[in-house]
Formats: sequence, structure tokens, C-alpha cells
Amino acid sequence: MADGAAVDSALARLAVFADESIGAAQLAGIALDLRVSHAPRRRWLEEVATTLSSKAGAFDDVRRTAACVSHDRPDGETATMTVERLARGFDRAAAISPAASVQLSSLGDEDRLAATTAEIASWLERQGFLGAHKHILDIGCGIGRLEHALAPKMGHIVGIDISSKMIAIARRRCAGLATVAFRLTSGVDLTDVAEASFDGALAVDSFPYLMLAGVAERHFGEIARVLRPGGMAAVLNYSYRTSPDADSCDINRLARAFGMAVVVDGEKPFSSWDGRAFLVRRAGGT
Ligand SMILES: C[S@@+](CC[C@H](N)C(=O)[O-])C[C@H]1O[C@@H](n2cnc3c(N)ncnc32)[C@H](O)[C@@H]1O
Repeated sequence: MADGAAVDSALARLAVFADESIGAAQLAGIALDLRVSHAPRRRWLEEVATTLSSKAGAFDDVRRTAACVSHDRPDGETATMTVERLARGFDRAAAISPAASVQLSSLGDEDRLAATTAEIASWLERQGFLGAHKHILDIGCGIGRLEHALAPKMGHIVGIDISSKMIAIARRRCAGLATVAFRLTSGVDLTDVAEASFDGALAVDSFPYLMLAGVAERHFGEIARVLRPGGMAAVLNYSYRTSPDADSCDINRLARAFGMAVVVDGEKPFSSWDGRAFLVRRAGGT
């Protein structure tokens, strides 16, 4: 917790890691009881405690949402089994809180989620990722918040996901947007996507689950295959490992292996979300 995390991100981590028998009010008390002399850190803990007390119900929902998706992979679970388990988990999570199911630190609040979505959209725009004639594939699209935000700036955007409940919510959210489409995917590869058919591939907080299922590297190669020459892939969070160096090392190795150049290497460009950004570009094109 002492790594400068925003209060919302700290609450999301508490929702995942704190013993569930300790309620929000008790956690707030623990935060206030910590004897911290460093004034900014003390103020931060006070803010954590205040938010826990004032949003106890939302915190409980975030906890229930987080509990739907286990990040442990039992021995003997194959990639397909992991994908199916995650799909069921995200189905349940979406039914509790659509906003928290895609970003726990939103605390289930659509306005907070929209603020992060807008930050991600402007970052993508600054990277030259968007464009009126571009076709984008969004891997692990969730509830379609990025499709909704990006549609006016894109030629066409296709969101794919393993969770039918997520896809159903995404379709409702983007109803009437003619340049947006959603479909279920196998989760193990992109064999139903044609070679060199997209200008960009997006994966916001989905690679950690590809990693969990053991299909992250295969997807990286698949992304290189489905991108047109010069196309870009934006991976926001590659894993939930605590080592940024390990993620950077993997991305650079995979980029070399699949003929891609790393343009952004693990920056944390967002103020409302602690996601780490990677951007790679397929060789060729103009
Ligand atoms: C944390 S959510 C993020 C959703 C969305 N990208 C966003 O940021 O709003 C992760 C999403 O990845 C999806 N997912 C998990 N494993 C996947 C896989 N193997 N293939 C495609 N999507 C997957 C989940 O169903 C879920 O919708």
C-alpha cells in the first residue's frame, strides 16, 4: 500500500487482499490506528478511512465482485478450463457491478469509470492510435466502455470477450453505434480473425487473464498476425505481477520475436488508474 497508490486503487487492493471477515468500518479503524508520523502518508490513510466509512456499501460490492474471479490457477487446470472458469467468473462479476467488474478502483461508480475511460481515450489519441479510417480489435472488451468512447474517433471497432454477460452489457451500452460490433471469442487464440485485418489491437486489463490461462504469448503472436503492417497494439497492464521489469522484459522479447517495435515501455500515464501502458508497432507500413 505504501507505494503512492491513489486512494481508489488502495481500496481496490484491500477489496482483493484483506481478510473478508474484516468489514469496511473495521478496516477504516485500522487505517486510523496506524501510527504514521509522515504527514502526507497520515493524510492519505485518513482519506482511505473516510472513503471506506462513507462508501461501505460500494466497498462491499467491490469485494463481492472481486471474489467472483479467482487469480489462482489450480494444478491440472488446462488453458481452456481456465478460460471457461474466468468467463463464468466475469459473468457473475458483471451481474453484481458492471463498472467494478472492469475496474475495481472505480468502486462501482460509472462516473469514476468514465473519467478513466476518457483518460485512456486521450492517451490513445496522443499515441496516434485512433483515426477515422482505422479498424480496431479490442481483446477482452468487457462492458464496451472503450467502444462507446472511441466509436466517434474510429472507422470500425470490434470488441471480443469470453463472457457472454459482458458482451450483452456491451451491446446494450453501444446500441445504435453502427461502427461497433461485439462477439464472443474462444479466449485461447484469435483464429477467427483474418490476417492483416486490423490497424490496431487494444487490450485493456485483459492480458493479465490471458497470462493466467497461459495464452498471453500466443495472443501476442496472434496480434502480430492480425495487424496490418505499421499497425499498433496497446496493452494496458500485461500482468498483475508486481515486477514491472518482468513485464517489460517479456514485452520486449515478444516484440522482437514477432517483428514489432516497442514504442511505449511500461509507463504509468494515467492519474485515475494505476494501469501500466505498453505500445508496440508492427514493422512496415507508412
Ligand atoms: C478487467 S476486465 C476489462 C474489460 C475491458 N477491457 C475494460 O477495460 O473495460 C477483463 C476482461 O477480459 C476478459 N477476458 C478474460 N480472459 C479473456 C480471454 N482469454 N480472451 C478474451 N477476453 C478475456 C474478461 O471477460 C473481462 O471482460
